[in-house]
Amino acid sequence: MIAEIHEGLEGVVASATRLSLVDGAAGRLILAGYAVEDIAPRASFEEMAHLFWTGRLPDAQELKALTATLASRRSLPSGTLVLMREAARQQTPVMDALRMASSTLSLGRNEDAQHDAYTLVAAFPGIIGGYWRLKNGQEPMKVNENLSHGEYFLHQIFGSEIGPERARGLETYMNTVCDHGFNASTFTARVIASTHSDLVSAITGAVGALKGPLHGGAPGPALDMVFEIGKPERAESMIREKVRRGERLMGFGHRVYKVRDPRADVLAAAAEKFYTTEGDRELYKLALDVEKAALKVLAEEKPGRPLNTNVEFYTALLLHGVGLPTELFTPAFAAGRVLGWSAHCLEQLREGRLIRPDSMYQGPTGLKFKN
Ligand code: CMC
Repeated sequence: MIAEIHEGLEGVVASATRLSLVDGAAGRLILAGYAVEDIAPRASFEEMAHLFWTGRLPDAQELKALTATLASRRSLPSGTLVLMREAARQQTPVMDALRMASSTLSLGRNEDAQHDAYTLVAAFPGIIGGYWRLKNGQEPMKVNENLSHGEYFLHQIFGSEIGPERARGLETYMNTVCDHGFNASTFTARVIASTHSDLVSAITGAVGALKGPLHGGAPGPALDMVFEIGKPERAESMIREKVRRGERLMGFGHRVYKVRDPRADVLAAAAEKFYTTEGDRELYKLALDVEKAALKVLAEEKPGRPLNTNVEFYTALLLHGVGLPTELFTPAFAAGRVLGWSAHCLEQLREGRLIRPDSMYQGPTGLKFKN
């Protein structure tokens, strides 16, 4: 007999992990041993990948080898491109196309957990960028093995080689969000991996979980809200109306963080660099005013519930600064988080047990089927 239900599994520790520590009371995030604010703005995404897959940062030779391995896996199977073209013809949303395309990465290959991890991480920028171009009537860019992961991602979207500053901004973002404990999509991936299924299956499921607005779908609507408010003097009243109507403010609140999400500050610092012209500065300042008003309104309208700024609010500002269209915000989240998903699957396969919780039946018993 089960004594207690933990709705949404809140507070339940399902397993141990060496990948990230999310300290919700102190507002601290440790990524494989390093504070997020220390490592995310400085490491390359390839260094991060080595850290997550092996447990330590690479030396120069290891970094070169892993960079080459990832670059060599950027080409997509021809069947993936056929699917992307059909999805674009039907104007399928990008996250749905990414989910469908992820599952095709098994084409032509035997299952191998580590190789699948390389392929998934290496292929996501090409799927997202290539699909975005197809959806907008352009041809995907050719694979380029000479660019860093961040540069390649931007090149696949925009079609020209991109300066190091924007690539640095994007890699800081992807490093910041690459892992975060047993969040919904990572847990989804681990559940699938716990059955000893393969990484392509697990990560396809994780993409589906990330899509929802309560998880990875929030940054687009967060930026839309800033644009909708438009002027600082309207922020408080518009936000109060929204909250009184029962709407959730995207980019605020978190299941684990009871104080400010530490990732918000890392992303805010990275975002600020992109808001240098007068018009841009105005938007950045407006966003800060919206944040301030939202925190005030949430404290007044939802007293006793610690609702703070989460990662998605500043994700929106950073990715907008890097030049990404709103529709690519959640896919860019996936391109960073796929690293954490893959590392969690590898950890689950190595050390984990089948994840199979109980449920409490609340329906009738003793009904008789009529012949
Ligand atoms: N705006 C207004 N009210 C809120 C918000 C919000 N953003 N978040 C929570 N609340 C209220 C909620 O209405 C409830 O109030 P009441 O008790 O009066 O019904 C109370 O706070 C507790 O909410 P909950 O749904 O039980 O909290 P949760 O831990 O299940 O939800 C959350 C966490 C992130 C889903 C939620 O805060 C939310 O919906 N935030 C907006 C969406 C968002 O920003 N998502 C990104 C999350 S961070 C990155 C990620 O996980 O990918």
